[in-house]
Amino acid sequence: MICDSFIFNEYENENQITNNELNKFSFKKYLNRPLNVCYIGAGYVGGTSRIGAGQAAELSFIEKAVRKIASLSRNSKIIVEKSTVPCRTAEHIRAILNANQIKNKNNNNEKKLLQENINNIDIHYLSISRSSSNSTLNEEFSNSENQILVDNNTTESSIHFEILSNPEFLAEGTAVNDILNPDRILIGGLQTKEGIEAQELLSKLYSYWVPEEKIIKMGLWSAELSKLTANALLAQRISSINSLSALCEEVGSDIQEISHACGLDSRIGPKFLNASVGFGGSCFKKDVLNLVYLSNYYKLPEVAEYWNQVITINEYRKSRFVKNIFNKLFNTISDKTITIFGFSFKKNTKDTRESPAITVVLSLLREGAFIKIYDPKVSEKQVKYEIMENCDIQNYNEYISRTEVCSSCYEAADCSNAIVICTEWDEFTLIDYKRIYNNMIKPAFIFDGRLILNHKELKEIGFFVEAIGKKLNF
Ligand code: UGA
Repeated sequence: MICDSFIFNEYENENQITNNELNKFSFKKYLNRPLNVCYIGAGYVGGTSRIGAGQAAELSFIEKAVRKIASLSRNSKIIVEKSTVPCRTAEHIRAILNANQIKNKNNNNEKKLLQENINNIDIHYLSISRSSSNSTLNEEFSNSENQILVDNNTTESSIHFEILSNPEFLAEGTAVNDILNPDRILIGGLQTKEGIEAQELLSKLYSYWVPEEKIIKMGLWSAELSKLTANALLAQRISSINSLSALCEEVGSDIQEISHACGLDSRIGPKFLNASVGFGGSCFKKDVLNLVYLSNYYKLPEVAEYWNQVITINEYRKSRFVKNIFNKLFNTISDKTITIFGFSFKKNTKDTRESPAITVVLSLLREGAFIKIYDPKVSEKQVKYEIMENCDIQNYNEYISRTEVCSSCYEAADCSNAIVICTEWDEFTLIDYKRIYNNMIKPAFIFDGRLILNHKELKEIGFFVEAIGKKLNF
């Protein structure tokens, strides 16, 4: 069974998922014999303390999952790293498993666990993640039939753990489709007899719904690094286009025209060239910083610096956007009301982790603005959580007193000086901007941080329009 908070994010809440829908993700229907595969989908976060703070991955959830497998397993298993992990994590997993596997079969505690065992087949998906309001699965085995991972019929000498790297490439908002129609499946393993057999076995499983040519077997470390690289390349594309969006604002070129022109080159392709107020989400920043840490660890400062620039530009893009709001509102936003359209890190998800809207809102609050936020999916509780997590605690109450979360675009824009588009929700392209304009304080401004609006029409209504990556001369 594959279960992930990314999938849950596509639904209003977990209870909306019916058994039929969950069955879409069930491996069991493909199996005609017992298998012992254990997926680790434990979250990892960018380190916040100790050595490598802010860059090195904090792998305690993964380690916790591995120790649990080691302590409960009584037969051989294929351990599949599904989480995005730093290169060579598999080595650590192997070391922990080998050092901690059950040695004493007469241990009372283990006997008790054995009695609880139901049967000895399965694919287990172990998800341990940080407990935040985003985290829907907290320390659990998401296999609904066997809640506990205990095997009952083996001898200690026969235990062998084979570790495979099988990184996940699904994106939020399209998770279901990405699982069912992946671009590729990577299966990394050691090139030993057991490693190759394990790769074969896992690839057989995927071949039930993924075409063979999309299932790529490779070395273990290559698979691990491929995932980090894919995210880093995607983030780099956005930062590249975002860096040029600043240049466009100065020279009068249009970043959308440039993205379109370059994207037509089949070697470049059109995807991930949309200029924005900055990329967000739980993965890009963390993975790029992890690459930076790895490069520094292996004494490659030039490589580290190269990738670090992807993050620097992302921060720059956000702060430049906010500075422009400040400048255009006559260099003072104290006591002005600013409406934020969109708080999630991208459309079609309620996830707010690393959302550029957080930086925008906090910067405006710091300057004394009143903020009204509307997002179709993000709750007031979540907005408050992000403000609390990202501001100095002594400012929290004051910031919250100047923040209102509204239930519609119209309510949010009422009596406001400016609208700031932070997320590209389709809804924001469909609303009645004439009605919005009539109820705003004049001059009424719109700052389009996602390039989704019809700027010409808005100007005709009477708005002062600013958009990233272009000078609007009409
Ligand atoms: C990303 C990757 O796309 C997935 O392949 C990967 O599996 C996932 O991270 C992960 O590691 O778990 P996700 O973070 O869900 O997926 O979202 P993306 O669609 O990649 O968007 C990330 C950010 O980039 C969003 O804030 C989005 O608005 C922004 N973006 C995206 C742009 O600013 N411009 C673009 O052209 C595309």
